[in-house]
Amino acid sequence: MTMKVTTATAHFLLVFLASTISHSVICSALGNETDQLSSLLEFKNAMSLDPEQSLISWNSSNHLCSWEGVSCSSKNPPRVTAIDLSHQGLVGRISPSLGNLTFLRNLSLATNRFTGQIPASLGRLRRLRSLYLSNNTLQGTIPSFANCSELRALFLDGNELAGGLPGAGDLPVGIEALVLSSNRLAGTIPPSLGNVTTLRKIACMNNGVGGGIPGELAALRGMEVLAVDGNRLSGGFPVAVMNMSGLAVLGLSTNGFTGELPSGIGGFLPKLRQLTIGGNFFQGNIPSSLANASNLFKLGMSDNNFTGVVPASIGKLAKLTLLNLEMNQLHARSKQEWEFMDNLANCTELQVLSLEKNQMEGQVPSSLGNISVQLQYLYLGLNRLSGSFPSGIANLPNLIILALDDNWFTGSVPQWLGGLKTLQSLTVSYNNFTGCENLQHIELDHNNLSGGIPPSFGKLISLKFLNLSHNKLTGSIPMLLGDLQLLEQIDLSFNHLRGEVPTKAQRLNIVVDVSDALAYLHHNHQGPIIHCDLKPSNILLDDSMTAHVGDFGLARFKIDSKTSLGNSVSTSSFAINGTIGYVAPECAIGGQVSTAADVYSFGVVLLEIFIRKRPTDDMFKDGLSIAKYADINIPDRLLQIVDPQLVQELSLNQEDPVATDENAAHCLLSVLNIGLCCTKSSPNERISMQEGSMLLDMEQRVLMEEIVTLLPVERAVATTRFVLGLLRTDMILHTGVACRDALEMRASKQLKEATHEDLLTPTPATLWRRSMTWTAWSGCWSSSSSQFTNSSVYVHRSVSPQI
Ligand SMILES: *[C@@H]1O[C@H](CO)[C@@H](O)[C@H](O)[C@H]1NC(C)=O
Ligand SMILES: *[C@@H]1O[C@H](CO)[C@@H](O)[C@H](O)[C@H]1NC(C)=O
Ligand SMILES: *[C@@H]1O[C@H](CO)[C@@H](O)[C@H](O)[C@H]1NC(C)=O
Ligand SMILES: *[C@@H]1O[C@H](CO)[C@@H](O)[C@H](O)[C@H]1NC(C)=O
Ligand SMILES: *[C@@H]1O[C@H](CO)[C@@H](O)[C@H](O)[C@H]1NC(C)=O
Ligand SMILES: *[C@@H]1O[C@H](CO)[C@@H](O)[C@H](O)[C@H]1NC(C)=O
Ligand SMILES: *[C@@H]1O[C@H](CO)[C@@H](O)[C@H](O)[C@H]1NC(C)=O
Ligand SMILES: *[C@@H]1O[C@H](CO)[C@@H](O)[C@H](O)[C@H]1NC(C)=O
Ligand SMILES: *[C@@H]1O[C@H](CO)[C@@H](O)[C@H](O)[C@H]1NC(C)=O
Ligand SMILES: *[C@@H]1O[C@H](CO)[C@@H](O)[C@H](O)[C@H]1NC(C)=O
Ligand SMILES: *[C@@H]1O[C@H](CO)[C@@H](O)[C@H](O)[C@H]1NC(C)=O
Ligand SMILES: *[C@@H]1O[C@H](CO)[C@@H](O)[C@H](O)[C@H]1NC(C)=O
Repeated sequence: MTMKVTTATAHFLLVFLASTISHSVICSALGNETDQLSSLLEFKNAMSLDPEQSLISWNSSNHLCSWEGVSCSSKNPPRVTAIDLSHQGLVGRISPSLGNLTFLRNLSLATNRFTGQIPASLGRLRRLRSLYLSNNTLQGTIPSFANCSELRALFLDGNELAGGLPGAGDLPVGIEALVLSSNRLAGTIPPSLGNVTTLRKIACMNNGVGGGIPGELAALRGMEVLAVDGNRLSGGFPVAVMNMSGLAVLGLSTNGFTGELPSGIGGFLPKLRQLTIGGNFFQGNIPSSLANASNLFKLGMSDNNFTGVVPASIGKLAKLTLLNLEMNQLHARSKQEWEFMDNLANCTELQVLSLEKNQMEGQVPSSLGNISVQLQYLYLGLNRLSGSFPSGIANLPNLIILALDDNWFTGSVPQWLGGLKTLQSLTVSYNNFTGCENLQHIELDHNNLSGGIPPSFGKLISLKFLNLSHNKLTGSIPMLLGDLQLLEQIDLSFNHLRGEVPTKAQRLNIVVDVSDALAYLHHNHQGPIIHCDLKPSNILLDDSMTAHVGDFGLARFKIDSKTSLGNSVSTSSFAINGTIGYVAPECAIGGQVSTAADVYSFGVVLLEIFIRKRPTDDMFKDGLSIAKYADINIPDRLLQIVDPQLVQELSLNQEDPVATDENAAHCLLSVLNIGLCCTKSSPNERISMQEGSMLLDMEQRVLMEEIVTLLPVERAVATTRFVLGLLRTDMILHTGVACRDALEMRASKQLKEATHEDLLTPTPATLWRRSMTWTAWSGCWSSSSSQFTNSSVYVHRSVSPQI
C-alpha cells in the first residue's frame, strides 16, 4: 500500500486505520482513495478548534464518504466531490492538502473562522465548480484559479484579503460569479475582466478599490449583477454599464462618482431591479427614463447632488419597494412639481420612502395618503414643509418609522397619530408646531400655543423612540406614555411642556421653559419652576431667556450689542435675578459675559441633577454655592452629597465600601468632576470652549450612559433626556462641533463598513444626524463602555431595520 503522508499524525491515523478498519474498506482504499483520506485528515488536523464537534465523525469507524459535510460520487471507487462545512465555527487554517482532492466540485467553508492564506493548491482543482470561503478571516492575496476550468462561482467575500482583484489571467474562462465584497482589496478594476465574457455577477463592495470602471467591461453582455458599493471609485457614470442590457443589480453607492446620469439609462437597462448610487457626487436631474426600468424595486439615490424635481414618471415603477432620494437638492414647490407624490400611489408595493434633506416646500399633498398601505418607513425630515401635520399619514396604518423633523409644520400634533399601532419611531422635532421664533409671533399666535401631546399617544404600543423636541408643545406630558412598554427613548426637550401659556397681562407669568432634566428634577414640585415677574418692556428678553432656559436651564445672558436690547442693563440684571444660582459669578457682578458663563450654568445644572439640590436651596447662602458645596465634598464625601435615591438605585453602599460598585462610583465621580470643572469661579479656569475641547469626552459620556443603564426605567428615561440635553447643550456651546464632526466621521466610516443590505436601507446616509443624539444612548445597549463604536453601529441598525 502506497501512502503519502505529510505529518506524523496523519501517518499514525493511517496506520491505525490500516490495522483496524474492515477488510472491504482496505480493499477499496487504493491509490486515490488513500490520497483522499490523507487529504481530509490533513484538513482536520489543521483545525485548532471544532466547537460544534463537526468533525467528530471524521474517524476510523466510518467511511470517509459518510463523514459530516463530505459527499462522494457513487462511482467505484467513490470520490470526494463536495465538502460543505459552512457555519460550523471551525477555527484553523485551510490545509493545502485539499488541493489533492482532484474530484472535488464544491467546496464550502463559509462562515467559520479560518485564518491564514487561501492555499494556492486549490487552484489545481480542475473539476471545482464552486468555492465558498465567505465570512472567515482569510488573509493574503487571491491565488490564481485560472486552471480551475470548471469554476463558475468564486465567493471570497467577508475576509481580510488584500492585494488586487484577479484579472482575466487568474480566472478560468467560464467563470460566472466573482464575489469579493468586504475584504481589503485595493488597486483598480482590471480592464482584462472585459475578456471574461461569461461573467454575470461581480460583487466587490466594501473594499478599497479605486479608479474608474473600465470601458472594457462593456463587453460583459451577460452581466446581471455589478455591485461595487463602498469603494473609492471615481469618474463619471460608467458608460460600460450601458452595454450590460441584462443588468438587474447595479450598485455604485458610497464611492466618488461624479457627473450626470445618462438620460437614457432606464431604456438601456430595462431589466434593472436594484439601483443604488447613493453617497456619490452625482448631479443633474433624475432621468425620467428610469421609469422604463419597470422591474425596479429598490432605487437608492441618496446623498448626491441631484437637482430638479422628482420625475412624475416614477409612478410607473409599480414594483418599487424602496425609494430613497434623501440628501439631495430636489425641490417641489408647486402642485405640478409635487405630481410625483400623486403618482406614487401607483407604487403599491412601496415600503420605504425618504425625501429627507431636500428642498421640498409647502404643504405635503394629501395624496401622500394614497400611497400604498404597505409603507413602513417615511422620512420627510429636513425640508421646508409647512402647513399642518400631513393628514395623509392617517391612511398609512403600517408605518414603523415616521420622521418629520426639521420642517416648518405648524398646528397641533394630531390625535389620530395614536392609531398607528405599528409605529416604533416618531420624530417630529424641530418644527414650528404652533410655533414662533420671536415676540411678534408670540403675540400673534399665543392663543394657538395650546398644542399638547395627544393622550392617544398612550396607544402607540410599539413605540420605541419618540422625539418631539424643539417644538412649542405645551401642556403636560401624558402619563400614559409611561405605559408604553417598549419605549426606549423619549425626547421632549425644548418645548413648553409642563409649563403654562404666557398671557399678555401687565403682570406676566412666564413659566420658563426648562430642560427635561430640570423638568424631571422638579417633577414633584407644584407650580412654576422659575417664576419671574416680567414687565412688558422685558418680554423680549424674556422670550430669549425662555428659549435659552429651555435650551437647558441656561439664560442667554450674552446680549448681542447689535440687537435693540444690546445695552439694556436693567433687563439683564432682571434675568440674572430670575435665575439666580445658575448664574456665573462674573455675571452677577456685571462683568464681561462670555460663553464661559454658559459653561458655568451648565455645570450648575449638572451638579443639581446629581446632587438633587436646587442652587437656590436655602442652604446655599453666605458665599456657599452649589458649586462650592460640591467642590469641598468631592471626592471624599461623594456618596454623602449625591442624591440618596440615586445612591440607592446604583446600589452604592456607604456603610460597606466593599459592596460599593466601583464602576458606578467612578461614573458618578467623572460626571461630578465635569460639573466642578464647569463651575470654577474664574471663567478662565473653566473648561475652555475656545480650544475646542469637548465638555464631555466620549469616555465620560459613556460612563454617564452607564449610570443610566443602572437606573430603573422610569428614572433612566428622565436621566437619558438629560444626557441628550448634554449633547445638545454642548452643541449650543460650540463645543459640540468637534463632537459632532467626530460622530459624523465615525458614522461615515461605519457606512464604508456597512454591508450591502445596510447600504440599501433607507437611512444610512443620514444616520449620523439622526443617531447623533441617539448615540448618547448607545451605552444603554452596550454592555461594555469601551464599545462605543460598535454600539453606534447597533444604534444605526436599530434605526434602520432591514427590510
Ligand atoms: C488517481 O487514479 C487515476 C487512475 O486510477 C490516475 O489517473 C490519477 O492520476 C490518480 N490521481 C492521483 C492524484 O493520484
Ligand atoms: C498532495 O499532493 C502533493 C502533490 O501534488 C503531495 O506532495 C502531497 O504530499 C499531497 N498531500 C497529501 C496530504 O496527500
Ligand atoms: C466516530 O464517529 C461517530 C459518529 O459517526 C461518533 O459517534 C464517534 O464518537 C466517533 N469516534 C471518535 C473516537 O471520535
Ligand atoms: C455544487 O454546487 C452546485 C451549484 O453551486 C449545485 O448545483 C450542486 O448540487 C452542488 N453539488 C454538490 C455535490 O453539492
Ligand atoms: C456571509 O455573511 C453575510 C452577512 O452576515 C451573509 O449575508 C452571507 O449570506 C454570508 N455568506 C455565506 C456564503 O454564508
Ligand atoms: C496551470 O496549469 C498550467 C499547465 O499545467 C501550469 O503551467 C500553470 O502553472 C498552472 N497555473 C497555476 C496557477 O496553477
Ligand atoms: C483580451 O484578450 C485578447 C485576446 O487574448 C487580448 O488581445 C486583449 O488584450 C485582452 N484584453 C484585455 C483588456 O486584456
Ligand atoms: C456598447 O454599445 C454601443 C452602442 O450601444 C456599441 O457601439 C459598442 O460597441 C458597445 N461596446 C461594446 C464593448 O460592446
Ligand atoms: C451641487 O450642486 C450645486 C448646484 O448645482 C453646486 O453649486 C454645488 O457645488 C454642487 N456640490 C457638489 C458637491 O458637487
Ligand atoms: C400607473 O400604473 C399603470 C399601470 O401599471 C400605468 O399605465 C400608469 O401610467 C401609471 N400611472 C402613473 C401616473 O404613473
Ligand atoms: C419655521 O421656522 C423656519 C426656521 O426658523 C422659518 O424660516 C420659517 O419662516 C418658519 N415657518 C413658519 C411657518 O413659521
Ligand atoms: C435684582 O435683585 C436686586 C437685589 O435683590 C434688586 O435690588 C433689583 O431690583 C432686582 N432687579 C430686578 C430687575 O428685579
